[in-house]
Amino acid sequence: APRPLVDGFGRAVTYLRLSVTDRCDLRCFYCMAERPDFVPKRDLLSLEEMQRLVTTFIRRGVRKLRITGGEPLVRRGVVDLMHEIGRHLVSGALDELTLTTNGTQLAHHAEALVRAGVRRVNVSLDSLCATRFAAITRGGRIADTLDGIAAARAAGLAVKINTVVLGGVNDDELDVLVAFAHRQDMDLTFIEVMPIGEEGYGRSDRFLPLDQVREKLGQRWSLVPSLHRSGGPARYWQVAETGRRLGFIAATSCNFCAACNRVRITATGRLETCLGHEAGVDLRAPLRLDPTGRAIEAAIDAAIAAKPAGHAFAEAWQRPATARGMHVTGG
Ligand code: GTP
Ligand code: 5AD
Ligand code: SF4
Repeated sequence: APRPLVDGFGRAVTYLRLSVTDRCDLRCFYCMAERPDFVPKRDLLSLEEMQRLVTTFIRRGVRKLRITGGEPLVRRGVVDLMHEIGRHLVSGALDELTLTTNGTQLAHHAEALVRAGVRRVNVSLDSLCATRFAAITRGGRIADTLDGIAAARAAGLAVKINTVVLGGVNDDELDVLVAFAHRQDMDLTFIEVMPIGEEGYGRSDRFLPLDQVREKLGQRWSLVPSLHRSGGPARYWQVAETGRRLGFIAATSCNFCAACNRVRITATGRLETCLGHEAGVDLRAPLRLDPTGRAIEAAIDAAIAAKPAGHAFAEAWQRPATARGMHVTGG
């Protein structure tokens, strides 16, 4: 039987995040430069190559697959790719197929995603105020994302909202976001800004520790710690008044790396074994040069064996933790 993916610290890798493009129709100011240097098209993996890699990782024990970007839905054919990958759900080899999206294109794709086997999606939404949303995303229209959320719900998808907490930008409307999400039966997760790439690092002045945020929210709501785990790094609290979950991804201040179960594939086919490090290997060359697949397996084994213990964001405020930006790794 194929060997499971276990790293040098005994952590089993069962969660793969696949970035299908570094492009995006928004320009969130903590994620992308105003005029980013996108990867040349020829350097991107083809959909067939992605499918081959996914199959390899599932054979090696990956049970959860999240499609990311950039914005995954701007990659042409991505829903067809997900439909193909969805076969592994039917066979029982995969437990969950999902995606993280900014929602702008979700209205066009929600029903096809359901047909592909997707049951829930994570939608990024940092403000409910149209002008503020436009400022954060440098020109995005909030109606597109709200329409996308509504269409996803109408199609039967569970929606989790992701909000990056930015001091002085959206920290005055976090309780409004909780009310908005919970009123519509959506979970919500707050995220600490991370010093990933120049853009993320440049937002260090906006960093707010989530402990502080939770304390403040606790003045309005009764927050009860919850044992729920979604398979990602979020820690959950139950809001007694709404009966729904509120997640906190304290990526920078709390270190959840000891239980890390995930790796990432970038749109150019690099396997990145930690969000906070440059510790990956190229899978594209072995994919293209060795049809037997042995070179890919060897590259994967070497990278997993060398997966770092964890990030060191707390120290990284002196400089970016990684040169590559979040839109390349897919968060
Ligand atoms: P579920 O738990 O399945 O809902 O998903 P998730 O929270 O793991 O994924 P999502 O794409 O919604 O990510 C939300 C935020 O968590 C993003 O800002 C990610 O960058 C961050 N995140 C996800 N995994 C990691 C990780 O391994 N390390 C760090 N530091 N941040 C992560
Ligand atoms: N720090 C924290 N979260 C970030 N995201 C993008 N850049 C950063 C950053 N520097 C978030 C997006 C999206 C998720 C995939 O990652 O807002 O919710
Ligand atoms: Fe696009 Fe997401 Fe980056 Fe915003 S955070 S620019 S929506 S990839």
